[in-house]
Amino acid sequence: MHIVHISVEMAPIAKVGGLADVVTSLSRAVQDLNHTVDIILPKYDCLNLSNVKEFDFHRSYLWGGTEIKVWFGKVEGLSVYFLEPQNGLFWAGCIYGCKNDAERFGFFCHAALEFLLQSGSHPDVIHCHDWSSAPVAWLFKDQYMHYGLTKARIVFTIHNLEFGAQLIGKAMAYADKATTVSPTYSREVAGNPVIAPHLYKFHGILNGIDPDMWDPLNDHFLPVSYTSENVVEGKKAAKEALQQKLDLKRADVPMVGIITRLTHQKGIHLIKHAIWRALDRGSQVVLLGSAPDPRIQNDFVNLASQLHSTHNDQARLCLTYDEPLSHLIYAGADFILVPSIFEPCGLTQLTAMRYGSIPIVRKTGGLYDTVFDVEHDKERAQSQGLVPNGFNFEGADAAGVDYAVNRAISAWYESRDWFNSLCKVVMEQDWSWNRPALDYLELYHAARK
Ligand code: ADP
Ligand code: GLC
Repeated sequence: MHIVHISVEMAPIAKVGGLADVVTSLSRAVQDLNHTVDIILPKYDCLNLSNVKEFDFHRSYLWGGTEIKVWFGKVEGLSVYFLEPQNGLFWAGCIYGCKNDAERFGFFCHAALEFLLQSGSHPDVIHCHDWSSAPVAWLFKDQYMHYGLTKARIVFTIHNLEFGAQLIGKAMAYADKATTVSPTYSREVAGNPVIAPHLYKFHGILNGIDPDMWDPLNDHFLPVSYTSENVVEGKKAAKEALQQKLDLKRADVPMVGIITRLTHQKGIHLIKHAIWRALDRGSQVVLLGSAPDPRIQNDFVNLASQLHSTHNDQARLCLTYDEPLSHLIYAGADFILVPSIFEPCGLTQLTAMRYGSIPIVRKTGGLYDTVFDVEHDKERAQSQGLVPNGFNFEGADAAGVDYAVNRAISAWYESRDWFNSLCKVVMEQDWSWNRPALDYLELYHAARK
């Protein structure tokens, strides 16, 4: 089968959040199953081109009153076509954040379909994502389906319903199949007016992570490579490197890591509360996060300076986006905290487990589907063929998050052997695309019937 993703994000070259990871890792998994996958991406001026191989000019065409240059390159083994309209729509120094984002991405979607048409491509499936490439669905059905691209079917994935609901609703109406990124989130949003009329073609398929892109055995950001067999040594070395890098006390204490966009979705008040609680309980805390909203960023700058005076050798807030540091935190932390108010899937809890860190999460969306509490979820885990792998809590108040953080840190202090065996257990669970990629292929086939 030939699948073309039309997307405005792709890891690691144009990443803002998990959507970027999913486009790359799902594509790699499907390609590994012997299907042909192409990706069409805007050629932003801020692209990280050092990660693009065989980068070269491909062709150009006229559309929308401008010349569009097409560049080709390989990213993580995937074929990527980069569209660069010469009207400068993507020369803005950023991916999102322009006043005319909807217009920029609308133009891109149209240009991408035009590129497929003009290059005589005949994909079986065109897969688009979130509000930013939602226009593909109706542009295709209104126009392109009737010209050369007759064979294609449209699959639309909702990564987050919070943004651009109107555009998402329109894509839901036109797509042949629609998905969201976990079964629980699919149920949580089922009553939403933009989803409800289309439930018959709407499926929750859990995201995976790419086990080669996130691999503690082959991760050049870590001081020592490790697998589940030497997880204790590997994580000890990573924790020491992290403490040293961030100038924290070199002590054998628990470490809570938080890696997140700092937005309402991620449970800002719960994150703040948990930082103080973890410190009170003798843990170190490292937060890596950036806030698109300057008020939230400012709030965390203030918190960082407060912590600087009260807990300077125990807590560090790194208020930036830093891929290498994220790897060291996944490996060096004992726990990764994800107290989201809502979470369509969440990838950080999955990556945490790949590195032998124990997730502490709020029971919502994909966090509910992937984290099973060591005390309370034995049966639920068993029904999925798993054993419990973390700590979770309900509610959205301090008491809930305290309950989970307290139990996690106590477990670390009270039984290191048990804790270390849990690290091994989570590392051995399979959160890759092995299973979900097959679900997508089944869906692609169903879309074609
Ligand atoms: P979302 O897409 O809602 O932000 P996900 O959990 O799906 O949440 O994906 C977030 C991705 O972004 C993960 O790969 C995570 O490691 C990464 N990430 C988030 N914040 C940062 C940061 N400040 N620095 C580096 N990576 C980050
Ligand atoms: C969105 C969601 C996140 C999900 C990611 C990838 O950004 O917020 O929960 O994991 O997309 O699908």
